[in-house]
Amino acid sequence: MKITDETSNAPALRISAGGYSKWRNVEARPLDATSRCAMEKIFVNLGAASYEIFIGEGILSGVGAFISGKFTPKALIVTQEKIFDAHGQPLTDGLAAQGIAYDVALIPDGETAKTLREAEKLFTRAIEFGLDRKSVVIAFGGGVVGDLGGFVAATYLRGVPLIQIPTTLLAQVDSSVGGKTAVNHALGKNLIGAFHQPRAVFIDLKCLATLPEREIKSGLGEVVKYGVISDEKFFTYLETNADKILSRDAEVMAHIVKRSCELKAEVVAADEREAGLRRILNFGHTLAHAVEEETHYEKYRHGEAVAIGMVGAARISCELKKTSAENVTRLENLLQRFKMLTRCAGLDADKLYRVTFRDKKTVGGLVNWVLMKNFGEVEICGGVPEAVVKKIFGGLCNGD
Ligand code: GLY
Repeated sequence: MKITDETSNAPALRISAGGYSKWRNVEARPLDATSRCAMEKIFVNLGAASYEIFIGEGILSGVGAFISGKFTPKALIVTQEKIFDAHGQPLTDGLAAQGIAYDVALIPDGETAKTLREAEKLFTRAIEFGLDRKSVVIAFGGGVVGDLGGFVAATYLRGVPLIQIPTTLLAQVDSSVGGKTAVNHALGKNLIGAFHQPRAVFIDLKCLATLPEREIKSGLGEVVKYGVISDEKFFTYLETNADKILSRDAEVMAHIVKRSCELKAEVVAADEREAGLRRILNFGHTLAHAVEEETHYEKYRHGEAVAIGMVGAARISCELKKTSAENVTRLENLLQRFKMLTRCAGLDADKLYRVTFRDKKTVGGLVNWVLMKNFGEVEICGGVPEAVVKKIFGGLCNGD
């Protein structure tokens, strides 16, 4: 991974990924009778706040054993009805087997549940259940559950232990790792939040088998992003295995989740609070956030918007002669093989341009664009000329 920072007068910063964090494979062992993959661990190296990401099939019954002896044996599970019905049994069986009392708080589906009002209901639930400072909040679901449950864990009693159990591909490869938690405000997404690292992340690959196709596609937007920003070899792996990914081949899915988590763990370990390097995770997100906002978070799943946003960022990079047209085509081709939209036809380029300035990553009126140089090499660029951004947005809005 190489990154150039052109947002300050400091000499260009080049950071090579190698030394930030370590991950290791744990001795392979089957987890239950239906397991096809061994469990893996990825270490997120954050000093006293370090934690592990456990990845495997059928691993949710192990959450209870992880909690036992470390925390008060009391857990508030924040989840949604469909997820809890489909995957909750092994989790609660494992908690019960360890004598851990649990309360299950079901939140509504959809981004609109990420509000202070829902958080307050969860605080009430936690107080009534007698959750103390060493009790655990378990966020068991996709990105909405992780963000809201994480926010409650970050703020209740000034912070209680959090375990993330992401059940969508997007949450597994991105939002459950790195400690970002938030709720939305009427004036914008994720505007109220806190960094609060989980004590562990449990990724059960079995959850992917029943995920709707759109959820897989949405997660793939973030997966492809890692290939662009950090690891050309991984990008090539995605190209080579595109058909297997679409058919959810267990081994290939396990690899893409693991590799994505490794790459995210490296970045987070190097820059937990997004002072520098972590900004590269926003590749594709400047336009994506504008597209989501302009369509009221209804038309595109987050990762779908990221796919369009990556094409926009790559085309801007090419227009500024930072990357080649071949690289842009290679990226577009892979996204199209994953049947992802790569244009935002019908939207207004001027409006999108204005909305990019409302992004919370905008500092001092400058939009920090993450631009592509090569696969595995990006550059952070403070302020791209308006004419260039509007030209590229115009093309995407025309469907070109
Ligand atoms: N999803 C971007 C980040 O975690 O920084």
